[in-house]
Amino acid sequence: METMRWLEEGCLELLDQTELPAKITYLKCRDYLDVAVAIKRLAVRGAPAIGAAAAYGLTLGAMKLNAPKKEEFISGVQAIARELSATRPTAVNLRWALDRMIKKLHIDKGEDINTLRAILLEEANLICQEDVETNRRIGRHGQALIPNGARILTHCNAGALATAGYGTALGVIRAAREAGKNISVVADETRPLLQGARLTAWEMLREHIPVTLITDNMAGYLMATQKVDLIIVGADRIAANGDVANKIGTYSLAVLAKAHNLPFYVAAPTSTIDMSLASGAEIPIEERDQAEITHLAGKPVAPLGVKAWNPAFDVTPNHLVTGIITEKGAVYPAYRENLEKLINI
Ligand code: MRU
Repeated sequence: METMRWLEEGCLELLDQTELPAKITYLKCRDYLDVAVAIKRLAVRGAPAIGAAAAYGLTLGAMKLNAPKKEEFISGVQAIARELSATRPTAVNLRWALDRMIKKLHIDKGEDINTLRAILLEEANLICQEDVETNRRIGRHGQALIPNGARILTHCNAGALATAGYGTALGVIRAAREAGKNISVVADETRPLLQGARLTAWEMLREHIPVTLITDNMAGYLMATQKVDLIIVGADRIAANGDVANKIGTYSLAVLAKAHNLPFYVAAPTSTIDMSLASGAEIPIEERDQAEITHLAGKPVAPLGVKAWNPAFDVTPNHLVTGIITEKGAVYPAYRENLEKLINI
């Protein structure tokens, strides 16, 4: 199942993840604003996937941009990049992908505007292709840490749907399966938007990887009754000291894992590491609409008018993280030192 695909006619198709698992429908994005809206309403979601989608969004914007002079064209593309970048603040992959696209414009200064448009499309395709290769490498490094027979708890969806393909945390699980390990998965449902129930459970079932769904508040009892061996999650941004921002509820799992002496791994590409932030305290945390808490599938589940708080992510402090699995290998404490070394490989 493709998360996104570029059509020759000059249009981006996004698998509408808000409709899963009930319906498989693709949204056609013909303009960068269509992509911006899709990112905001989580039709496409997951850190690497929104980076790749935004790269195509920028390409769409550049295709429609009417700027006869090259300087005007470049500043127009930069303005679109700023708009796309503001759609979701936490996942750094969004900014990373857009910065990479913009850099291409500066490198190729001698080209005309149509050539620049083609260069942008080529770069967006490359970001997508590389993401799948990166995830396969994360999978290879990560699977070595998974014992045969392991029962693995994961949160949210860090799978093929959250990337251009294969997934990060679920990529490790896929790779362990491909290596012939007899593993099983426990998926946290992940309130409020149920990415675990709707997306992770769906991905695992499609591949016949044994999966059991639990509600988020069952994780403590699951660990206390020894029904899980390790935890693997994805990440939206990792600070230079190894603090990890990921879907709300990840921090609670990490605390529980520590209390039950279980390994807690984070699987993410190096594009998720933000060396410009000294610690997780500096990571901007997206707050979403209260209706996501007060309503479920459009129906109220709380009294009308009640106030709700809806942070979409939390920060897990580095001391709760057993290891960070990247495409360049796994990193362990001391993170400040070891992430610096990893980035420079
Ligand atoms: O709000 P979402 O669904 O975009 O949140 C996604 C997550 O938190 C994922 O765990 C993270 O982006 C890693 S995806 C490989």
